[in-house]
Parts: sequence; C-alpha cells; structure tokens
Amino acid sequence: MRITPSILTADFTRLGDTIDSAISAGIDWIHLDVMDGNWVVNKTITFGPALIRSIREHLGPDIFLDCHLMVTNAEETWRQYVDAGVNLVIAHIEAIENPNTLISDLHSAGVQAGLVLNPSTDPALVLPYLSDLDLVLVMSVIPGKGGQSFMPEVEEKVKTFRSAIDEQINSGGRNTLLMIDGGIKSHNAKLVADWGIDIAVVGSGLINSKGTISENLDEIRSSIND
Ligand code: DX5
Ligand code: ZN
Repeated sequence: MRITPSILTADFTRLGDTIDSAISAGIDWIHLDVMDGNWVVNKTITFGPALIRSIREHLGPDIFLDCHLMVTNAEETWRQYVDAGVNLVIAHIEAIENPNTLISDLHSAGVQAGLVLNPSTDPALVLPYLSDLDLVLVMSVIPGKGGQSFMPEVEEKVKTFRSAIDEQINSGGRNTLLMIDGGIKSHNAKLVADWGIDIAVVGSGLINSKGTISENLDEIRSSIND
C-alpha cells in the first residue's frame, strides 16, 4: 500500500520545505485538498490553482499530484487544476451532476479521473462509473479538516469496491486504484492495507506527528509490513 501525504495541515509559510522533506523521504505522489469555503460542512477555504501551480513549478514534472476537489462547482472549474499541473482530479460524487461527462472531459484533457465518496455515501452511486475511473477515493473522515479520527465503519464500502475492482481487473478491465483518506496513522494503516486499499492519504500522521516526515513514513510503512 502506497502512502501519499496531504499537505492540508502543513505550515503554509514553510510549504516548500515540507514538500521537499516529503520528496527526500521518498514520496512521489502528493494529495492536494482543495476546499472552496462552501462545500465542506465547516465552510473552510484551503487553496486553489495558484498555489498548485507554484507547487508544480517547485517540484518539476515528475511528482504525481492529485487534487481532491471539495468544491461546489468541480464540473465548471476542473480545468483550472489541470492547467495548474495536477495529474489526477478527484471529484465528490455528491457534488457533480454528470460523472460520465466529467470523466471523459478529464481523459480528453490528458489527466486521470477519480470519484470520491463521503463516509455516508452509498457505493452504488459510483459503481456504475468504475470501469472508466482511474481511482476511487473512500473518505474515512467527514471532509473539512485534517487531524480527525478514523471512521472504521467505511470497511464495508472499501470491501465492496475492492471486490468490484478485482472482478473488473480479472475480466480484463481497468485497474482502478482504491484510495482512502482521513485519520490514517501507524496504528490503523495495516488494517486498511488488509482491506485492500492501494493508496492511503496521510496528513497529520506524517506532517504533524512527533518525528520527521521520513521517520513518520518509516513508522507507518513498517506497521504495514509487521
Ligand atoms: C480532509 C482531507 C484529508 C485530510 C487528511 O477533508 O480530504 O485529505 O487532510 O488528513 P489526516 O490524515 O490528518 O486525517
Ligand atoms: Zn483529501
């Protein structure tokens, strides 16, 4: 199971250093949490395309950037994030009207397409699009901030997607990646890896925990391999 840092809980006055430490710790994929001050319950604003463009310029072309759009108008604004340099756009199924159109638009623009579900959202809303999706993200916290507690009740949903994706792969279909996001730390990383998660987003568990990013990453990785 891969680990990708969310920079949401970083000190934004030292973001370049934080990103550099993540890269030197061997990270090659960064998760960017975009909130528009409207869609998430606590109405937070985080950052938008301008910051993402600076991050892309700082990093160069090889680091994979995904943007988790927690916004009311992803279908109108997704291209700003593509132009800013992201490789994958992950949109909330709860906030979009026409998933098929968005997915094909993203693919025509040369980037990957993902859908994300809140903890209480039924997987049946996303399963019909699975064969066209590069990634499905299951939220294990309610979107809006980092540092929240993990919600184990998403186990059932993760396993539903795991078996649907395995079936899809076994019949020659797309290897859709399965991602989880929220409250992942060294004490539960192995649990979600055993559920069949391909990529876990870790924010505060990497950036705001006691050790360096590299130490925290090693601790999480060894907890998975124990
Ligand atoms: C929450 C974000 C998550 C969050 C993860 O709305 O989508 O990516 O930043 O942070 P932790 O790992 O601290 O829960
Ligand atoms: Zn996120």
